[in-house]
Amino acid sequence: MSELKPVKIGVIGLGTVGGGAIHTLQTNADIIQSRVGRPITVVGASARDLNKPRLCDTSNIRLTTDPFDLINDPEIDIILELIGGTTLAKELVLAAIGEGKHVVTANKALIAEHGNEIFKKADEAKVTVAFEAAVAGGIPIIKAIKDSLAGNKIEYLAGIINGTGNFILSEMFGKGREFSDVLAEAQELGYAEADPTFDIEGTDAAHKLAILASIAFDMPLAFDHVYTEGISKLTPQDMQYADELGYYIKHLAIAREDESGVELRVHPCLVKHDQLLGNINGVMNAVLVKGDAVGPTLYSGAGAGAGPTGSAVLGDLIDVARNLHDEHNHALPGLGCKVAELEQPKLKSVGDITSAYYLRIMVSDRTGVLAAIANELATNQISIESVIQREHADDELVPLVLVTHETTEKLMQKAVDVIKSMPAVNGDVMLIRIADVE
Ligand code: HSE
Repeated sequence: MSELKPVKIGVIGLGTVGGGAIHTLQTNADIIQSRVGRPITVVGASARDLNKPRLCDTSNIRLTTDPFDLINDPEIDIILELIGGTTLAKELVLAAIGEGKHVVTANKALIAEHGNEIFKKADEAKVTVAFEAAVAGGIPIIKAIKDSLAGNKIEYLAGIINGTGNFILSEMFGKGREFSDVLAEAQELGYAEADPTFDIEGTDAAHKLAILASIAFDMPLAFDHVYTEGISKLTPQDMQYADELGYYIKHLAIAREDESGVELRVHPCLVKHDQLLGNINGVMNAVLVKGDAVGPTLYSGAGAGAGPTGSAVLGDLIDVARNLHDEHNHALPGLGCKVAELEQPKLKSVGDITSAYYLRIMVSDRTGVLAAIANELATNQISIESVIQREHADDELVPLVLVTHETTEKLMQKAVDVIKSMPAVNGDVMLIRIADVE
């Protein structure tokens, strides 16, 4: 019997994800070969520094500092783009598509910001660009939405999709630690992005949300329309109040579609103690997807790291490799539908959303302050559900915490603007939306 022709791949980037993916490919070579029907061979790999120690065995891999060596190698069928960033990575991915090669990438920023152009080129060239590893590390959430839930109209999805942010909030909540102290630890532990503002200001989660929403709602990628708020202003005091009210505070990414359009938002949320999403802690990620037929479904696992992200890369690689010599090519377009056939729905602004709210207002402890604030909320038809004001210290600022019933963001912002300008109110009002998810 003649030996089966191997599938030949080139790996751009030998860092945590590239090294992790090749390591698992080497460890599980036999089972992967039997699942694909032929071996997968790493022909070459590129890295900036060829002398660094790696997570995988590179002894039989041709190493280069020039990733174009791999793209221009006619022997290579599939390119793994695992360097991150959006400049060189975009050039490389477009060049690989131009050479008729399939691409597997873990690059969320690239897909979220340039995916519409990349998938158009890939669809025209009839090659696959697969990106499971770009969202929520090892959780197979792209496949779940694109394949397994394809019969559903998706009502909403809500996720904890940044492990660094979740680690910080979990530590602040559980141990009463300050934000900056936990961030420094997250950086030391290697969880944070090269630029940690991407984690804490929500950009990383917004990239991932744009990708999930595009697949869930059959729309072009709309990263620029994601409303984004970070977690850096949250205090251990807010964690305590939330807990007392029966909630955790989580940094959620929410996408929802109704008859008036699609909302895309990333911001801190109060999540009830008995909700599953609220109980996802540390660097773990989770995504809740509600389909009209299936109801709510929850997917959880590690959102980063060599093993989990490498696992998602390999899942895509095996998928592409299985279809490689299949004349019927069963590969789906990147976003589930051909990007040229997608239409942009009405994208709502944050002012259009409805929510219940938590407000923490620093006020002078004087007669009539609570009445004035309650009156301003009532003027905007905002009803109060509960109030906490415990500390009493004459002439000192005290936190006044209010939870409201559901209202529109526009009315809430209007009321907050007036409240902020009251003489008895000092500084910003901490406003946290209450998650409306199962
Ligand atoms: N910095 C990201 C996180 C890594 O913390 O989730 C995975 O995208």
